[in-house]
Amino acid sequence: MADIQKVGVVGCGLMGSGIAQVCAQAGYETTVREIAEQPLEKGLSSIEKNLDRAVQKEKIDESEKDEILGRLEGTLELDDLADCDLVIEAVIEDIEIKEEVFGKLDQVCGPDTIFASNTSSLTITEMAASTDRPDRFVGLHFFNPVPVMKLVEVVAQGATSDEAFDAAYEFAESLGKKPVTCRDNSGFIVNRLLVPYMMDAIRAYEEGIGSIRDIDKAMELGTGYPMGPFTLADFVGLETLLKIGDIMFDEYREKRYAPPPLLRRMVTAGHYGRKSGQGFYDYSGEEPEVADFVLR
Ligand code: 3HC
Repeated sequence: MADIQKVGVVGCGLMGSGIAQVCAQAGYETTVREIAEQPLEKGLSSIEKNLDRAVQKEKIDESEKDEILGRLEGTLELDDLADCDLVIEAVIEDIEIKEEVFGKLDQVCGPDTIFASNTSSLTITEMAASTDRPDRFVGLHFFNPVPVMKLVEVVAQGATSDEAFDAAYEFAESLGKKPVTCRDNSGFIVNRLLVPYMMDAIRAYEEGIGSIRDIDKAMELGTGYPMGPFTLADFVGLETLLKIGDIMFDEYREKRYAPPPLLRRMVTAGHYGRKSGQGFYDYSGEEPEVADFVLR
C-alpha cells in the first residue's frame, strides 16, 4: 500500500481550501498552491476562520488549531509539490487548464506520486491520458462545504492500478470521510443526479410552475433536503454549475443536462451566486431576497 504522508492541493478556492483544511486536520503535511497571492491569502484565511469557529465551539483548542495551521503551507509554485505522495487538483473546471497542471506535475513529482482530480464533470480518463502515470491516477471528488460533507467519490479509470485506488480510498477514510466507489463517467454518481435536478428547477421556474421561493420551500419541506435547488445552485456557484452543465451536455447530448437560458444570462451578467453577492437570491441584506434580475 502506498504510504501517504505529504499531500499537495492545487487550487485554494472554495473546494481546494476545504480539501487542504481537512488534510491538515487529519494530520497530513499539506502544501496548497494557488496562481496568485490574493486568492491564496483568501483561501488560507477562510481555513483560519473555519478553525477559529471550531475553537469557539470547543471542538478543538487553540493549540490544536496552531498544529493544524503548522502542517499547512501555501505556495505559488507547483515545484513545491515535488515531494508529495498524493496531489489533489481542485482548479477551475477546464480541461486545458487541468491538463496543463497535470503535465507540469508529471515532470515535477516523483514516479510514485499519486495524482487525483476533484473534477465535477470531466472524466478522469482524459486527464490521466495526458500524463505518463495513468496507473497512478484517480478521481477524489469532494463536496461543498468540504469540512462538513461526509462524502468522497473515489473513481478509478481503466488504467488505475488496484494499489493506487486502494490508497486513495483509504486516504479518503483517513480524512473521516465516507467514500463511495464510482465508475469514471461524467458527473460520477452525485452530479449525474444532482445537475439535472438543478437544471430542471430552473426550467420549472421559467415555465411558471412556481416562484423561486416556493420551489425552494417545496423541495426543502417536501423532501427534507437541507437547501432548495436555487439556494443550492447559488451555494455551488452559478458559473461552476453552467460549466458542469455544458460539459455534461456535451458528453451525453441529453436535454436534462443542458443549462437553461436563464442560467447562462445570469452568469453572463456576472451573477455567480453567493460568492458574488447575487444569484437567484440577493445576499446584500440580512436575509437573502429573490434577486430583481430573475424577476424581470
Ligand atoms: N465551511 C465550513 N463549515 C461550514 C460551512 C462552510 N462553508 N457552512 C457551514 N459549516 C458548518 C457550521 O460551522 C456548522 O458546524 P457545526 O455542526 O460543527 O456547528 C455546520 O456546518 C452546520 O452549519 P449551520 O448550522 O450554519 O447551517 P446548516 O445546518 O444550514 O448547514 C450546510 C449548512 C451544511 C451547508 C447545509 O445547508 C447543507 O448540507 N446544504 C447542502 C450542501 C450540499 O448539497 N452540498 C453539495 C453541493 S454539490 C457539490 O459540492 C459537488 C460539486 O461538484 C458541484
